[in-house]
Amino acid sequence: MTEHKGKKKDSKLVVISNRLPAALSQEEGEWQVRRGSGGLVTALNPVLKDRGGYWIGWPGTREEIPRKTLQDLLAPISQEAGYRMVPLQLSEEEVAGYYEGFSNALLWPLFHDLQTTCVFRPEFWKWYRHVNGRFASLAGIYSDEEDYLWVQDYQLLGVARALKEQGYSRRTYFFLHIPFPSPDIFTCLPWRIPLLESLMEYDFLGFQTIRDRRNFIACLRTVENRIKVTTQGPISRIQYRDRQVSLGALPISIDAQEFEESSRSPKVEEQVSRLREIHGDRKIILGVDRLDYTKGIPHRIEAFRDMLERYPELREKVTFIQVVVPSRDNVEAYRTLLEEIERMVASVNGAYTTESWVPLLFLYRSLPREELLGYYRLADMALVTPLKDGMNLVCKEYCACRIEEDGVLVLSEFAGAAAQFHRYALMVNPYDVEGLADTLVWGLSMKKREQRKRMRGLRRIVKKRDIYWWVDQYLRASSGKELHNFPYTDLPPLGDMMLEQDASSGAEAPPEKLWDVLEEYAEDGKPLGTPG
Ligand code: ADP
Ligand code: F6P
Repeated sequence: MTEHKGKKKDSKLVVISNRLPAALSQEEGEWQVRRGSGGLVTALNPVLKDRGGYWIGWPGTREEIPRKTLQDLLAPISQEAGYRMVPLQLSEEEVAGYYEGFSNALLWPLFHDLQTTCVFRPEFWKWYRHVNGRFASLAGIYSDEEDYLWVQDYQLLGVARALKEQGYSRRTYFFLHIPFPSPDIFTCLPWRIPLLESLMEYDFLGFQTIRDRRNFIACLRTVENRIKVTTQGPISRIQYRDRQVSLGALPISIDAQEFEESSRSPKVEEQVSRLREIHGDRKIILGVDRLDYTKGIPHRIEAFRDMLERYPELREKVTFIQVVVPSRDNVEAYRTLLEEIERMVASVNGAYTTESWVPLLFLYRSLPREELLGYYRLADMALVTPLKDGMNLVCKEYCACRIEEDGVLVLSEFAGAAAQFHRYALMVNPYDVEGLADTLVWGLSMKKREQRKRMRGLRRIVKKRDIYWWVDQYLRASSGKELHNFPYTDLPPLGDMMLEQDASSGAEAPPEKLWDVLEEYAEDGKPLGTPG
């Protein structure tokens, strides 16, 4: 394996995540590039901006894109971002087995406490290890021993172990953006031991909440009861076999100041005026989510319906705007969810629409930033009611954009953000439809004074514990460094280095059996990744 030559004295940041912060897609035969979506990208993009490091990830396509096209598309946005994007192309089978299969038909539901939705297929596991191996080879090529390899999220639990297996000596740091389940749930996983062992190959493991970290330690004890744990504030140290690994509980956040400043911009002001003209004096309830069954969208539509039914005086006075960005649409459970939501929206609107009012507006698309911020500023209430969520950044974005310091946040007890916001948000159990409906009424009738008291509290937290606080805490806890210790480094052009991808051969060979699995699925008419 060729190690990248031309070592720098300063260590650089190398972020490794499943997705690049840019997504490529083909429209009318032309390759297009757009901003990636999801909390991970929102959070980490400002951190790496202007650092001059690398971000390694999948550009989101299953078709092979010619090298030259990739380079031409990514070079200008890398330039603009101030760091270099290194694409790892995945084949159709790799996407099916590693991404749609192991990551999103198994780990995603399992880690969100939905084990009955999981698909436990041995082939998925093989593809997962194989693709983690490919990420590791690329990370090895693009880094030196002194670099800071920062691996993100559940898709890449095995990168540290794969790097070692491929002979790379690197310091590796991991952050889990989603929850870590309790032993009762985690132990359903047939690969629980190798996964825990792989995680313990990292030098530092970051979790969103103390609860996630506690769950992880409890799971580790189920396979190794001789571990020694010492905890000081947000950091625990574990003596595990011959290794010492540190564990942090650090809630991720957003660039709050940037959100606040952008929400004051003339373009956003224009959006707000336009939207106010459309909606007049009506109160606006807002939901903004990726299309995902963990976000509790059907439950909240049910609660809205219940509110209209039991509180008829609110009809025509309140509009619920639910914005959903398409996600993982090749996984069956996500398509079913879309159909369910569309049915529910039609049913609520069918029952309550009048000549001058449509109660529920459903926008199924990714919104341009100004429009999204316009909605945050417009909304009297944000409805953030996931059944389970690692953190949830939408609620932080809403608070950061409330520059007039009013508005009400209704927040699920099961979002990671609940640990930070429970004193100021209206906390709800998303399964309790009537309770949620009553909370909507409470929030909609809340006096401005009370709104301000609560919103100021929320905004104080969002501003104090922003993404820069998070990154400094994380870097300090894991390596004793801070962000400014990673000065800008001018890296070689990606073009030359991309050729080195051909040299990476350390990854384990892919399983041969996946096509059998695909055929098996084709027979019962369901695509790969179908839960159940
Ligand atoms: P997750 O990581 O599960 O997607 P988060 O709430 O942490 O959930 O992050 C979601 C991110 O995606 C936020 O930054 C939010 O602004 C963005 N987002 C969600 N829905 C939309 C949409 N319809 N249009 C644009 N951005 C969206
Ligand atoms: O934070 C959870 C997460 O899975 C991220 O890892 C990911 O970037 C985001 O949600 C969006 O999901 P996907 O990349 O599968 O579209």
